[in-house]
Amino acid sequence: MSLIKLTGITKRYRMGDETVFALDHVSMAVEPSEFVAIVGPSGSGKSTLMNIIGCLDAPDEGEYILDGENVSALPDRELAILRNRKIGFVFQHFNLLGKLSAFENVELPLIYQGVRSASRKEMVTEVMEKVGLTARLKHRPNQLSGGQQQRVAIARALVTRPSLILADEPTGNLDSKSGREVMDTFHHLHKMGNTILLITHNNRIAAEAQRMLSIQDGKVTCPEDYLSMEREAERRQTSGTDKEVRGA
Ligand SMILES: Nc1ncnc2c1ncn2[C@@H]1O[C@H](COP(=O)(O)OP(=O)(O)O)[C@@H](O)[C@H]1O
Ligand SMILES: [Mg+2]
Repeated sequence: MSLIKLTGITKRYRMGDETVFALDHVSMAVEPSEFVAIVGPSGSGKSTLMNIIGCLDAPDEGEYILDGENVSALPDRELAILRNRKIGFVFQHFNLLGKLSAFENVELPLIYQGVRSASRKEMVTEVMEKVGLTARLKHRPNQLSGGQQQRVAIARALVTRPSLILADEPTGNLDSKSGREVMDTFHHLHKMGNTILLITHNNRIAAEAQRMLSIQDGKVTCPEDYLSMEREAERRQTSGTDKEVRGA
């Protein structure tokens, strides 16, 4: 069974008289333990897709099955419960709390879940080991490098043992060395069996994933489809120009 299955997912925005298809009948699936990247330019629909997959927003049309549950049918309150249980988010800007230590930042979601102190300590220690930050537990975010801060954010996403790690431009705010550090962490987590969906505008980063999908004008395709779409568009453009020349 797929962990994520989207069928015909559509999201429209009305701007005056015009309707923008932020997502245009998107169908795709992610299997358990896969590392998938979705790559697309600015405005292609990445954040809209992330919000829907992350159960932060509902589509206008289509069906979304997450880990066997039909998300499209759920009311907001249940959507929030499912989100907290199933998804670990990693954002471009880390979103760590500046006054808390690395340990406390990672511990926070467990406090919200009502996990007891002794188990929290065990769980936080375990994920900090996985992201290689055992020596930085007491550091505050401003005492850590960008790459280390993002690894704390990854540990925070991981600590509740979600079915899916959903990362939106996780390297977008980092220099190349720190970006490398974060990608190595994702590779390590993937090897340990975690499912990762990474959303980025960076082709080079996306190409590192096990499988890559493209998003363009709200349509998701695999790269081969995308190339043939580009060629088709070029062909049409060329034949259009031909006609104009002939008509002139
Ligand atoms: N709240 C909104 N209202 C109107 N249009 C929106 C809204 N959110 C996104 N869009 C439009 O939908 C398209 C996709 O946006 P988005 O998902 O943010 O793309 P990306 O994250 O790839 O840059 C863009 O054309 C954007 O202008
Ligand atoms: Mg975006």
